[in-house]
Amino acid sequence: MALELDTPALQAHLRDLAQEARDHRFDVAPNPCVGAGVLSNGKLIARGVHAHWGGPHAEVMALAAAASSGVPRAAWDALLVTLEPCSSFGKTGPCSEAIIAAGISRVVVGALDPDPRHRGRGIEALVKAGIEVINLDGSVLLKDQAPHFLRWLSIDRLRQPSPWTVAKWAQTLTGQLTPPKTSEDGQWISGPEALAEVHVLRGRVDGIMTGFGTVRADNPRLTVRSPGQRDDPPVRIVLDSDLRTPPEARLFEQPGEDEAGGPVLIFCRIGPDVGRARALEEAGAELLEVRSVNRTSLDLKAVSQRLHERGIQRLLLEAGPRLTAAMLEEGLVDQVCIYTGDMRGGEGPTLGNTLLAVRLGERRDLEVGNCSRMDAFVTLPPGSH
Ligand SMILES: NC(=O)c1ccc[n+]([C@@H]2O[C@H](COP(=O)([O-])OP(=O)(O)OC[C@H]3O[C@@H](n4cnc5c(N)ncnc54)[C@H](OP(=O)(O)O)[C@@H]3O)[C@@H](O)[C@H]2O)c1
Repeated sequence: MALELDTPALQAHLRDLAQEARDHRFDVAPNPCVGAGVLSNGKLIARGVHAHWGGPHAEVMALAAAASSGVPRAAWDALLVTLEPCSSFGKTGPCSEAIIAAGISRVVVGALDPDPRHRGRGIEALVKAGIEVINLDGSVLLKDQAPHFLRWLSIDRLRQPSPWTVAKWAQTLTGQLTPPKTSEDGQWISGPEALAEVHVLRGRVDGIMTGFGTVRADNPRLTVRSPGQRDDPPVRIVLDSDLRTPPEARLFEQPGEDEAGGPVLIFCRIGPDVGRARALEEAGAELLEVRSVNRTSLDLKAVSQRLHERGIQRLLLEAGPRLTAAMLEEGLVDQVCIYTGDMRGGEGPTLGNTLLAVRLGERRDLEVGNCSRMDAFVTLPPGSH
């Protein structure tokens, strides 16, 4: 059977692979969700998805699955991929090279890379290597498949250089981020399953950011613990205008055997107290001075820009209601991940009103132990609607 002649079947396979990949959209953002499969004799003998940010790409996963499928390589008719393979180095090597190395003779592409810097380059690399490419651009519609990726590449987003920011918080049934005073000491809003997930999430970002309010209240370590991925742990970032973080804070403790902690960055206002600055630097922190707004809070756009300049692409915001609300209000949050625990009441403000002002796009609702988890993309920052 000549593959080229069976375009509708190829398109059906591409759409099927795309659907599976979409399940991972909150885990790969800002990357696009991509699916791939290896076709033999009209059937998909192997499938792969890009399952999480920083993880292997779909093509690599599908080729590895095909290699262990038992179907001989000579019987692989084509690699199907929902989006043009990448041709540049990111968190992983270029997929075009992995495809060439796999020795497959034909690649079917469901959509061209929408990024003008890369569009067509992946295909060009494959063709140069003698691989037949069937370009079925438009079979997978990126506006449906990965609208977050199109937003990430939009002119407005490129003009506001800031990391893709995931705001994560746990709230009680009434929306508070701090458990009621009556709860037992050390009691968490979310259960152990949710806490384990948070460590996985921490292992898949470049930075974790919090505010001084959380440092004062919880003295967190912001480390990655099992089951999170602990190689190259994320930078730990604190927004602390007046450098009130104590040098004895647990952030500066040596991580334990089962945990990993990245370098500590503290943002403060310009011209901080020299003594406090020196003490924190001696404790191991790097200090970054940024302008403040209203003489009270740090300029969050300036903070985000500095983080972006330092190569932080995906940032996890794990702060209290004050900084989380301010980041949402400034339009600096791209995605939310909200755990609602099985606990009533609580202390402090809720984020309900702030969320009402933000337009949330597609969402995913999951049950995690005794918590519910809601992921959603922020599609429109406040002020722009
Ligand atoms: N449930 C959860 O997921 C969760 C997560 C974290 C914390 N918490 C709880 O939240 C409570 C602390 O809340 P919080 O709101 O005080 O802490 P926060 O949001 O973590 O930190 C707020 C602090 O960040 C600093 N900051 C600097 N620039 C800012 C800006 N532009 N906008 C806002 N803040 C800025 C300010 O301190 P300076 O003026 O000193 O710079 C501000 O007081 C604690 O009870 C903690 O347990 C809950």
